[in-house]
Amino acid sequence: MDKCLIPQEWNRYSPSEHAMWDTLFARQVSMLSTRVAPAFLEGIDVLRMSKPGIPDFDELSERLHKATGWSVVAVPGLIPDDVFFEHLANRRFVAGRFIRTPEQIDYLQEPDVFHDVFGHVPLLVHPMFADYMQAYGQGGLRAMKYGSIHRLARLYWYTVEFGLIRDGSGLKLYGAGIVSSNSESLFALDSDSPNRLAFDLKRVMRTKYRIDDFQQNYFVIDSFEQLLRETLETDFGPLYAELEAAPEIDVGAVVSSDRIISLGTQIHARTRGSPAPISTQT
Ligand SMILES: [Fe+2]
Repeated sequence: MDKCLIPQEWNRYSPSEHAMWDTLFARQVSMLSTRVAPAFLEGIDVLRMSKPGIPDFDELSERLHKATGWSVVAVPGLIPDDVFFEHLANRRFVAGRFIRTPEQIDYLQEPDVFHDVFGHVPLLVHPMFADYMQAYGQGGLRAMKYGSIHRLARLYWYTVEFGLIRDGSGLKLYGAGIVSSNSESLFALDSDSPNRLAFDLKRVMRTKYRIDDFQQNYFVIDSFEQLLRETLETDFGPLYAELEAAPEIDVGAVVSSDRIISLGTQIHARTRGSPAPISTQT
């Protein structure tokens, strides 16, 4: 199913567009070196993404396919949910091909090739994450039948886009929305403002999110294996039905069952009713 795909037309990028990629790439890679999940940096190496200029999707796909069977394909912008899920279910990651202008270097509304390729593609080299993304696509097709896409979208938001992970050396970034943003890469790990909560699938699917500011809640996984296992072992049909009766949780709220993860990665329970700090940063 090639619906909505367009050619990348790599030869049409101008020198200034390639230079914009190089500027963004250099800025993020140096800042992320100690902040991002090691698997992300390994992906950059395996895919040889440090080569200057906007990556050619065909070259990238060749290397990625050898690693985990995924490929990267170009789309004109937002595409219908069913088409998006179908591509993921078949290990095709859809990416925008345009790149932001210098005026948009720190903020743009629609994902560009830097967000989509730099942010998302390196982790597709990791076998567990690669399987998780495929499972997500398959789950998306099922969620459409249950009318529950909005709940599954929250899982994508709080993992694939804005997820944190912790390993022996502490909290690390892995969500594409964070790692492709210079300011949120700092905020998500350094600021006292947001809550960092242990990942809980049901809780995440009850939680609203905002798209116009830094996140006020980040959810922390222990491993990509945990993410994949919980997704594969959950029967989402009954879960969607159960969640219909559960109240929604507001952006930035903390509930009694939450396990807060401090910047030192220690877990402690927040006492009931204790207010969550609210981010006011932009
Ligand atoms: Fe994204």
